[in-house]
Amino acid sequence: MEKKNIDWSSIGFGYMPTDYRYVSNFKDGKWDEGTLSTDPNIVLNECAGVLQYSQSVFEGLKAYTTEDGHIVTFRPDLNAERIAASAARLEMPVFPKERFIDAVNQVVKANAAWVPPYGSGATLYLRPYMFGSNAVIGVKPADEYQFRILTTPVGPYFKGGAKPITIRVSDFDRAAPCGTGNIKAGLNYAMSLHAIVDAHKQGFDENMYLDPKTRTKVEETGGANFIFVTKDGKVVTPKSDSILPSITRRSLIYVAKEYLGLEAEEREIYFDEVKDFAECGLCGTAAVISPVGKINDHGKEICFPSGMEKMGPVIQKLYDTLTGIQMGRIEAPEGWIHVIE
Ligand SMILES: Cc1ncc(COP(=O)(O)O)c(C=O)c1O
Repeated sequence: MEKKNIDWSSIGFGYMPTDYRYVSNFKDGKWDEGTLSTDPNIVLNECAGVLQYSQSVFEGLKAYTTEDGHIVTFRPDLNAERIAASAARLEMPVFPKERFIDAVNQVVKANAAWVPPYGSGATLYLRPYMFGSNAVIGVKPADEYQFRILTTPVGPYFKGGAKPITIRVSDFDRAAPCGTGNIKAGLNYAMSLHAIVDAHKQGFDENMYLDPKTRTKVEETGGANFIFVTKDGKVVTPKSDSILPSITRRSLIYVAKEYLGLEAEEREIYFDEVKDFAECGLCGTAAVISPVGKINDHGKEICFPSGMEKMGPVIQKLYDTLTGIQMGRIEAPEGWIHVIE
């Protein structure tokens, strides 16, 4: 298969339409059989549920070319489970797990020419999503839905090395207590837009959100979970009902314990403890781990010993091991890598 003529190593993290997207519609209580479409546009009724009451959920995962030339995805079953949980919370029908995985396979196969080659630093990003599509004027769930997966090649999150970032403690909340912070709904991201634009204006790369009830515990950022390393080399990550259960974070905890022999723990983390940690990173599909060098808490700075030049040693090992697994250089745990072709 001939790859598209793209300078893969120079693309950024943006949207570039590819040849095919997967589309399935839910009507009269059931999903249709689904199809691949060449049309990137969606025509919707002016009163569609998604437009009026933001009934939309989504996912994000990547297809990689491995060292030996296969195209693979990483733990798509967990994305299927998470979008099912997101849909259930917003009173949307669940797109079945086996159909989700089949749709991922179909859309990646159809766009194989768009999967960046091994070593280019780029990958094919997949964005599965679902939204209420029929007209709804009273506040209630839609009756009809569309599930789609679009794909777009994306460049490495870091150009020229993983430079540590500076974040600030946010005065805005991302999620409400007992709200929707633990699902991947578009409405959570709408909530975070003002906070991120404001953070950028003030010269910060991201927001650290604290727990919405007491503002004493670390939650996450607008698009990633936190991972910390204590001074005695233990990996710790916040446990909370109002953060997104990151697939990367869950994978890193396993890698820390089973591949690197480290102690790793998911627990409540008070903001007061953060100044005593040795390393800090943000984890998610896009970047795997972005190191954090500095946290600004209303003018008071927490500077991690790992500094502003490079990742700390433990985070670097976690990064190398997880990307090694994804790219086929290191043997994966059973079921983590789905070979597409
Ligand atoms: C709010 C939020 N937290 C965490 C993550 C990381 O999740 P994952 O590792 O599953 O990509 C994401 C990205 O999807 C996110 O949007």
